[in-house]
Amino acid sequence: MPRVPSPRWLRRPSDDTAPRFWYGADYNPEQWPREVWHEDVRLMREAGVNIVSLAVFSWARIQTAPDTWDFGWLDEIMNLLHAGGIAVDLATATASPPPWLTTLHPEILPVDASGATVWPGARQHWRPTSPVFREYALRLTTAMAERYGGHPALAAWHVSNELGCHNVYDYSDDAAHAFRDWLTTRYGTLDALNAAWGTDFWSQRYTAWEQILPPRLAASHPNPSQQLDFKRFSSDALKEHLRAERDVLRRLTPDVPVTTNFMVMDETKGMDYADWASEVDFVSNDHYVRPGPQALDELSFSANLTGSLAGGRPWFLMEHSTSAVNWQPVNVAKREGELARDSLLHVAHGADAVCFFQWRQSAAGAEKYHSAMVPHAGADSELFRSVACLGAALRDDLAEVAGSVRTPAKAAILFDWESWWASEQDSHPSSLLRYRREALDWYSAFLALGVRADVVHQGASLDAYDLVVAPVLHVVPRALAKELTDYAEGGGHLVTTYFSGVVDENDHAWLGGYPGALRDLLGIRIEEFGPLLAGESVTLDDAVGTAGTLWTDRITVTDPSVEVLAGYRTGPQAGRPAITRRPVGPGSASYVSTRLGPEGLPGVLARLLAGAGVRSELPEELRGRVELAVRHQGGTTYWFLVNRTDEEVGLAGVTGRSLTGRAGAGAASTGHVPAAAPVGPAVLAPRGVAVVRRESPSGT
Ligand code: GLA
Repeated sequence: MPRVPSPRWLRRPSDDTAPRFWYGADYNPEQWPREVWHEDVRLMREAGVNIVSLAVFSWARIQTAPDTWDFGWLDEIMNLLHAGGIAVDLATATASPPPWLTTLHPEILPVDASGATVWPGARQHWRPTSPVFREYALRLTTAMAERYGGHPALAAWHVSNELGCHNVYDYSDDAAHAFRDWLTTRYGTLDALNAAWGTDFWSQRYTAWEQILPPRLAASHPNPSQQLDFKRFSSDALKEHLRAERDVLRRLTPDVPVTTNFMVMDETKGMDYADWASEVDFVSNDHYVRPGPQALDELSFSANLTGSLAGGRPWFLMEHSTSAVNWQPVNVAKREGELARDSLLHVAHGADAVCFFQWRQSAAGAEKYHSAMVPHAGADSELFRSVACLGAALRDDLAEVAGSVRTPAKAAILFDWESWWASEQDSHPSSLLRYRREALDWYSAFLALGVRADVVHQGASLDAYDLVVAPVLHVVPRALAKELTDYAEGGGHLVTTYFSGVVDENDHAWLGGYPGALRDLLGIRIEEFGPLLAGESVTLDDAVGTAGTLWTDRITVTDPSVEVLAGYRTGPQAGRPAITRRPVGPGSASYVSTRLGPEGLPGVLARLLAGAGVRSELPEELRGRVELAVRHQGGTTYWFLVNRTDEEVGLAGVTGRSLTGRAGAGAASTGHVPAAAPVGPAVLAPRGVAVVRRESPSGT
C-alpha cells in the first residue's frame, strides 16, 4: 500500500511527500531580541525541529491600534524559519485581545455566573458570542490569511488557541441573546422548551423568550435541563467561533489545512470534541500530565481518545511539556526517560507530530517556570540533549513508522461528553461521582491486564468491538438504548455501570425504575440508589472480597436468565446483587453497581473479557508492566511497548526488529542507546519505549 498522507494533513512542497514525523514547539520570538532568533533556528535544526507554531499570542504586536499593523517582524521570522527548513503552523493570533481593544470595547469581556466581569490582565478574556470581538478577530484572521497564505513556510493554520481554556462559560448579556437564539433553533416553541426544561417545577414557566437567561448565580440549584443545555450551547458557541475563523481561512487560502488545538486531557470537559472533530482538517491536541498514581494511564487514555477523534487519520500533538509546568500546586520535573516516553505514547496512539509548549523558556511572564525545549539553563543542558535525542529518534530511527495508522483493538471504552456533563451536575444522589475517573479506572484495568482497548467517543461505530464498556452512561436517549440493544443482540458484550441509562436527552428521568433506558437490556430493576459517604466502603462476595466505594444500587433481577457475577457481602445492599450479566442472544449486557476502582476492576474485567473471548496479545510476564499500542502500514505492524514501571523489563517473549535500540527510546533520551538495533529488544529501560517492527498484517 503506498504511504500517502491525507491531503488535509500538513501542507508540504509538492516534491516532498514522503510521510515524516513533525517535531517542534510553540515559538514566541517576540519575547526575544533578534540575535536570539538566529540562535533559535540553529538550535532547532540541531534538535531535529521541523515545525513551529507561531504568533499564538502575537495580536498586540501585529495590530497595534485598530488601523495600524506591523507585519515586519513576522515577515522576518517567517522568512528566517523558512530559510532554516522549518515549517510554520501559523496561528490566527486571535487568542488574547490586546489592551487597546479591551479599552475601546470593554463589552467583549466575559462575565461570570455572579455577574462579575472577567478583566484583562491574563489571556483569553473574550466572550465567545460577542459580535464586536468576532468582527475584530475575523479582521485579524483575514489580514493573516492575505499576508501569509502564499508563504512557502506555511504548513497549516492554527485557529486561536485552546478555545475554551479560560472562557467556555460566559454569562454575559451577549451570551443570553445567543443562548436564546440557540434555544429557539433547538426547540422552536416556548411550549417545547417549557416541556424540555420541566419548568412547572418551582414555578419556572416561561411566557416570552426574553425571560430566559444563562444559569446565572441563583438562590438554589438552577434548573438542571437549563444547565445541560447551557453546556451544549457553550460548546457550540466556541465551535461557531472556530468555524467563523476557519471559513475565512478556507475562503482565502483553500489549499492550507486548518486546525485548532483541543484539550483532551484530565478534567477539561467544556468542549464536546466529538462534535468538533469534523470541523477541522486534522485533529490537534494539547496534553499535560498531572502527577499521580494513574498519570501515565491518563496520558494514554487521552491520546487514545484523541486517536479516535481523528478517525484513523494522523493527528498532531500540538503541546505537551518537556518537563515541569507552572500551573499545578507543585510543579514536578519529569524524570529520566519521561520526556521521550510521554511523547512516544502519543505517537503510539496515532500522533504523527510531536510538539511542546514551548521552544525557549520565557524569562518573563506567568509561564517563566514552565519547561521548554531550551530551558533557562540554555542548550548546554540535559534537557536540551534529551530533546535533541528524541528529535533524532523521530527523524531517523522511527522514520518508517510515520504515516502508519492505529490498529483497532477488540475492546473499547465508550466516552460520552453529554453523560460527563449531566452525571456531574448538582442536586444528584452524590456530588462525589466523577465520570472521567470511572472511565479512566476501567482503562487502568485494561492496562493492568495487558489488554488493548480503544477509547471511542459516543457516535463512533461499535461494530468492530467484541466488548464495550460504557461507564456512567447517564444520558441515554431512546435511539442510543436501541443502538446498544442492537449491539448486544448482534453478539457484542456491553458493560455499563452505576448511574447509567437514568435520563433522556432533556435530563428527565426515565420512569419505571432504573437503569431506565437500559433496564430491559440489563434485565434488572433498581428502585432507589444507594450512594456511599466519603470514606465508606462495602465488600463484594467474590473470592477476594473486592471493595466498592461511592455507590451501590438496590438491584432486583427481573430476567431469570441474568447471572449474578458478584453480590454484596456487606453494606446497605448486603445479600443483593452487585454485578450482573444478562445473556442477550450471542452477546451480553453486564452491570456493575459500585465503584471498584483501579484495584478492584481488573478481577471483574478479566471475567467479562473471558466471557467475550477477548485476550491479551502480550506475553504473560509483560501484562500490566508494559502497555502495548499497535500501528500498522500494509503488511507491517509496529508494536509500541511502553514500560509502565520504574524498573527494567525483559522483552524476551516479543519477536520482531526493534527500531529503538536495545533499551528502548526512553533510554535514548539519557544517551544510553546502543548504536545498532538488535533483532528483538532484550530489555526495556525504566520508563522506556520500544518500537518493534513485525511483518504480520494481524499484528500478532
Ligand atoms: C496551554 C497553552 C499554552 C501554555 C500551556 C502551558 O496549553 O495553550 O499557551 O499556556 O498551556 O502549560
